[in-house]
Amino acid sequence: MIKKCLFPVAGYGTRFLPATKSMPKEMLPIVDKPLIQYGVEEAMLAGLTDLGFVNGRNKRAIPDHFDINYELEAEIAGSGKEEKLSTIREVMAACTFSYTRQNQMQGLGHAILCGRTLMGDQPFGVVLADDLCINDSGPLVMSQLVSLYKQFRCTIVAVQEVPESEVDKYGVIAGEALSDNLIRVTDMVEKPAPSEAPSNLAVIGRYVLTPDIFDIIENTEPGINGEVQLTDAILTQARQGCVIACKFEGERFDCGSVSGFVEATNTIYQKRLDRV
Ligand code: G1P
Repeated sequence: MIKKCLFPVAGYGTRFLPATKSMPKEMLPIVDKPLIQYGVEEAMLAGLTDLGFVNGRNKRAIPDHFDINYELEAEIAGSGKEEKLSTIREVMAACTFSYTRQNQMQGLGHAILCGRTLMGDQPFGVVLADDLCINDSGPLVMSQLVSLYKQFRCTIVAVQEVPESEVDKYGVIAGEALSDNLIRVTDMVEKPAPSEAPSNLAVIGRYVLTPDIFDIIENTEPGINGEVQLTDAILTQARQGCVIACKFEGERFDCGSVSGFVEATNTIYQKRLDRV
């Protein structure tokens, strides 16, 4: 059973400056809920309730969000406004929250390694909160990955087709098709130039990782941009054993970009209106 999930949240969010000068990018709201809460709810729905955060300096708003705010809650107690806290209260009742810090920005692989003591020696999910995922017709991506982990017992990554011109924003995979939506990974390149990309299948910010990833990251040299890349460590796992990529069901918004953020906001707001 997978119970743990890691959230690397130390990044600066420079694409949203000045909004993110003193506020974590993960606290930016899509309609009325911060991005990080969408990610946490997705993990919770997949049964992952021991949550670890690799936080950064000036990001206290994240631990505060998953805690009680006595003054506010006393102020609105008994009023209709309390209903607005129902989703965060549900998450707080179901999950535990642990924090560590990444005190130097050395890449996603390094961020994951910082979470080692929180995750321990068992498989765990990883959610990059920048990627907001929805699915109108079934379970969310993390639940899909957890089911696949139960079947394959190895690292599972979520992928989607992207335009060739955009492959340089992602980790890109190649492999052997096992079925319409499953691929056994044989190659994986972080942010390749379009001419060097092994395919147009991009990894999105949802993973289930087996704990051997930590030793592998420790032995992974910095890659592109001088950063320790999770992609390079997962490729080592693929070469040593097995890594499965899943073309997931649902929609994903790149909320690390202003255009993806606006698209997610419009989509989720419209869904709200449709429900009223
Ligand atoms: C990270 C990963 C990349 C992945 C992407 C998904 O990149 O390094 O492999 O495709 O997340 O969002 P970043 O967006 O942090 O540059």
